[in-house]
Amino acid sequence: MKIPIAKTEFTDADFENIRKPLESGWVVQGPFVKEFEDKWCKFTGAANSVAVTSCTTGLHLSLAALGVKEGNEVIVPAFTWIATANSVEYTGAKPVFCDIELSTFNLDVKKFEKLITKKTKAVIPVHLFGLPSDMDAIKYIAEKNSLFVIEDAACGFAAKYRNIHVGNFGDTGCFSFHPRKAITTGEGGMITTNNGELYEKLRSLRDHGAAMSDLQRHLQNKPYLLPEFPYLGYNYRMTDIQASIGSSQMERAVEIYESRKKIADKYSRELSDIDWLVKPFVGKDYVHGYQSYVCLFKPEEINSGNLDKVNLMRNEFMDYLFEKGISTRPGTHAVHNLAYYNEKYCIKSESYMNSLIADKCSIAFPVFPSLKEEESDYIIEYIKNFKIK
Ligand SMILES: Cc1ncc(COP(=O)(O)O)c(C=O)c1O
Repeated sequence: MKIPIAKTEFTDADFENIRKPLESGWVVQGPFVKEFEDKWCKFTGAANSVAVTSCTTGLHLSLAALGVKEGNEVIVPAFTWIATANSVEYTGAKPVFCDIELSTFNLDVKKFEKLITKKTKAVIPVHLFGLPSDMDAIKYIAEKNSLFVIEDAACGFAAKYRNIHVGNFGDTGCFSFHPRKAITTGEGGMITTNNGELYEKLRSLRDHGAAMSDLQRHLQNKPYLLPEFPYLGYNYRMTDIQASIGSSQMERAVEIYESRKKIADKYSRELSDIDWLVKPFVGKDYVHGYQSYVCLFKPEEINSGNLDKVNLMRNEFMDYLFEKGISTRPGTHAVHNLAYYNEKYCIKSESYMNSLIADKCSIAFPVFPSLKEEESDYIIEYIKNFKIK
């Protein structure tokens, strides 16, 4: 058996829909982008959605629209995909790392407040692997200190906190449609915001700073006149080709989420006896979106003294599963420990100990809607058969 970590899955409806922009000839941002944005608003409950080229450009656009610039600091978790911190670097501001809680892999709220300085302008909580961050606490601290909140909801499809979809708590929320995500457009992203003024600015900035989109221009009575450009913008527009398949996947959004949850629930149930694997934590007010099913490999209490040893054991576990045809991955990385950040900011690896532990000891198992019962049985069986040396 050969089981990938994730699988892109398109249906006949997606194939049919992608033909439409190709046949009409309107392949840049147009009516399908608008349709995809409307469906995203409906699914998440957000007032406004702005489709962009990736979650990374969504984060950058959010920071730019909120005026984050050189001299500012932005707090980001140390354990996340590198793009969270990179988006801050693009603005000239400094990303300030904050350690995570090992139980959730999300920002440690107690440590967050202590990092706020006069230069801090914003915080980017990440809903890692689909588990919402503690948004009540983060928003309380952010409001007290006049900070903007940008949710990195790259993995946040279907994730809810207190029954509210992520992306509705911050000034903006940024989602990813990379192929490892539940909805995919190849590359792609979506920004949500409930602030009308910010929405207008985001729309303009993604489109070179234009006062009006091409679609709006074509729908008005003098489509041949070009608009004004009040801002220095970017070209972060999603194409209608991408949006056409995003839009058709949204028709089965609930189905996609439920099939992912079913697999995750099966792992949690069947692996409950394995005490050397800490399963994803889901608190009372939380709905996990299960972009990934990530466990902490913890055969013993982990500290700086035995971290390398446990890391080797985790890697042996990954090798063993790989030999059986089962793909796994580390959850994500400790960004402060990656060469660019480590060298630029001279950060010691142990400065964010939980992030380092998560980097070296986390493991993600395959989750995708078409994972068959016999495949998940096979994965579970081999996990259970692994002998800790
Ligand atoms: C937490 C997090 N933030 C940002 C990104 C970047 O998303 P994209 O590839 O759409 O730019 C990812 C992608 O995996 C992610 O996991």
